[in-house]
Amino acid sequence: MLTPTQLSQLIEQEITQLDLKGKPDNLYQPMRYIVSLGGKRTRPQLVVLGCELFTDNVQPALPAAMAVECFHNFTLLHDDIMDIAPLRRGNPTVHEKWNTNIAILSGDALFVKAIQLLMQVPNTTLIQCLTVFNATALHVCEGQQLDMNFETQATVSIPQYINMIRLKTAVLLGASLKIGAYIGGAVEEDAEALYKFGEYLGIAFQLQDDILDVYGNPETFGKQVGGDILANKKTYLLLKSLQVAHKYQLEVLQQWTQTIDYNPTEKIKAITEIYDYLNVRKLAEAEMEMYYTKALQCLATIPVSQERKHSLQQLAAQLMLRTQ
Ligand code: IPE
Ligand code: IPE
Ligand code: MG
Ligand code: MG
Ligand code: MG
Repeated sequence: MLTPTQLSQLIEQEITQLDLKGKPDNLYQPMRYIVSLGGKRTRPQLVVLGCELFTDNVQPALPAAMAVECFHNFTLLHDDIMDIAPLRRGNPTVHEKWNTNIAILSGDALFVKAIQLLMQVPNTTLIQCLTVFNATALHVCEGQQLDMNFETQATVSIPQYINMIRLKTAVLLGASLKIGAYIGGAVEEDAEALYKFGEYLGIAFQLQDDILDVYGNPETFGKQVGGDILANKKTYLLLKSLQVAHKYQLEVLQQWTQTIDYNPTEKIKAITEIYDYLNVRKLAEAEMEMYYTKALQCLATIPVSQERKHSLQQLAAQLMLRTQ
């Protein structure tokens, strides 16, 4: 079984061997740029660990691991355009460094690369892997559209929010694990339980992402702190605040979310003060813990030894403590 360090090294080695060369330069350079900025590599790790749950031979899972990381990076290029985000992984976003059209096309090209890599999975699992990958890619688009719709939708319920983050974020974690499981020779029932583990973990992961967007340390977070507040994202923190706020805070929240011309620093400060006052961070953390627990329960149902599950449990625990 791989240690966490060995796993990281294996993934980074594959990343450096990715073929992202071609002409014109301004199509391929941004692809290499975003991928080389790093990030946690969570999804490729999940592919490998999903495979390793069922076999010691993880080599056949490596192209699929690269496929989901390319796909993830494609979603980031487009997401940063949609969210008007200036920073990604501590560096300028592609649409800022180059321009929006370049970010769209480099993103599209990364999506194609992802499919090419996925086609390198062992033949016996190709249809299974492509099926889950394609369904997931569509779900991510659905989630991203809901996320954008919610920016201007007056009322969004917590279940609607959970469904949105399930689609935009969680299903890709589930799919990464399921693809790894298929390659590792898992039966459908176990692959599906692993998918559920990833889906619940992904919901907890996005709740954490929403918390970090407000409370992250700008030194380590790598993204603009307060970006969700500026974009009027319907995060768990905002929705909970709207639920528990008294008349005064409700008026302040509504005023800030409806004003078009404002000072960004002041808006972030004012809304964060309301979150602090209402203690919604604690509520968001409790929700996150609940989904994390559900995730672990799904993993527990899979009939393989505790020793084999250890790496996944460790990765999941680490994600809940992340700072970036
Ligand atoms: C960012 O994902 C997008 C979300 C789904 C929140 P990550 O937090 O995994 O980003 P990197 O790859 O580590 O930079
Ligand atoms: C992004 O959610 C989900 C996808 C990229 C599909 P966010 O918009 O919260 O992700 P970050 O915070 O920009 O990484
Ligand atoms: Mg974003
Ligand atoms: Mg977004
Ligand atoms: Mg975010």
